[in-house]
Amino acid sequence: MNVLLIGSGGREHALAWKIFQSPRLKKFYAVPGNPGIAEFAECVENISAEKNSDVVKFAQEKNIDLVVVGPEAPLVNGLVDELEKVGIKSFGPKAAAAQLEGSKIFAKQLMEKYKIPTANFEIFENPDDAKKFLKTQNFPVVIKADGLAAGKGVIIAKNFEESLEAVDEMKNFGAAGSKIVVEEFMEGEEASILAFTDGKNIVPMISAQDHKKIFDGDEGLNTGGMGAYSPAPVVTEEVLRKVEEKILKKIISALNEEKIIYQGCLYAGLMIKDGEPKVVEFNCRFGDPETQVVLPLLESDLLEIMLACAEGNLSDKKISWKKDTAVCVVLASGGYPKSYKKNLPIEGIKKAESLGAIIFHAGTKRDGDKILTSGGRVLGVTVTEKNIRQAIEKVYKCVGVIKFEDMHFRKDIAAKALKYI
Ligand code: AMP
Ligand code: GLY
Repeated sequence: MNVLLIGSGGREHALAWKIFQSPRLKKFYAVPGNPGIAEFAECVENISAEKNSDVVKFAQEKNIDLVVVGPEAPLVNGLVDELEKVGIKSFGPKAAAAQLEGSKIFAKQLMEKYKIPTANFEIFENPDDAKKFLKTQNFPVVIKADGLAAGKGVIIAKNFEESLEAVDEMKNFGAAGSKIVVEEFMEGEEASILAFTDGKNIVPMISAQDHKKIFDGDEGLNTGGMGAYSPAPVVTEEVLRKVEEKILKKIISALNEEKIIYQGCLYAGLMIKDGEPKVVEFNCRFGDPETQVVLPLLESDLLEIMLACAEGNLSDKKISWKKDTAVCVVLASGGYPKSYKKNLPIEGIKKAESLGAIIFHAGTKRDGDKILTSGGRVLGVTVTEKNIRQAIEKVYKCVGVIKFEDMHFRKDIAAKALKYI
């Protein structure tokens, strides 16, 4: 099978790493890819992943059998719709289904209509109405921009003043912030369940937990995710069963009722309190860094599963997972998620690999035989081990041999798992 992967982050490197293990793979391309992905696929940088027509043309020229779309933007922009028009299969939802992530209002209204557990909410089309409503609320509340805002369109307001500022800040998200959702604040512990779906069947992957805040102890600004581990013990078998019955199967049948077929990876961001899961958000793609811990635990052939999702026969596939534990620590540029330096040389990648880590490139570029930083999240360092304690110990040993100027990472990744032992 000839495969084209879209994207350039740590998630896409993890996808490439796993797809490359499939005996079904023939030619493998990535647009645009990154220096890590380049070990597995031919990276094509002279076409833009943002231009659907360029990607479609390239996929036709190279006789691509399956396009795997990593990030949300091309999904929301209808890349899969365009590929389908010329008869090319994709792993990832079409634009109508990708609205689950592309519009918080679409997702919230669908959950409300089909009684899928989530935070109570109100929708506002202008800031003044939102502010009037906030006068009547208890705090904290959560203020969200409707559209895609690169993970930054969510503000937890601790009091009335902060909530007014948050409403004003939504203007900074352009069209994405022109409508606002005000949401009840949910207490609990978060977890991520990614799931494979062919539009009829939905199969959860092994559970994971992200660490969204920049500093230890969940302090500081929100980021794309500073580390993850899998499985997440907060997702007990009982919780997982509830997630399947009350959330995953229900959202797929809700979409079907609305005449929308969702195929690809559906990501449910969950808040779990007293064993009851509620939806924080849906994403229409694999999570990052969650993918960097989930895929190293997947025993089955990822490419086979992706093809089954695209062809609508996921029920024929057996999906099995290793009994191990995986931990990923993200190494970020100092200053991230605000401004940071780029083009700093990275040392120690080979050494960390020789200690047993899988190094996923997230924001790097190649300069001759050097690897330089080129993004906020630079590398993901993943290890798998028999248990969580060993995995934590080993991952930080591997992190310890990697260096670049102002490198920042959290020292408490997976610490939340220890309380369950
Ligand atoms: P989102 O982009 O919707 O995932 O929100 C980003 C982060 O904000 C989530 O991972 C949660 O930590 C937090 N969050 C969002 N909505 C809520 C909520 N209703 N209650 C509590 N925390 C929330
Ligand atoms: N790790 C959070 C996300 O992928 O949205």
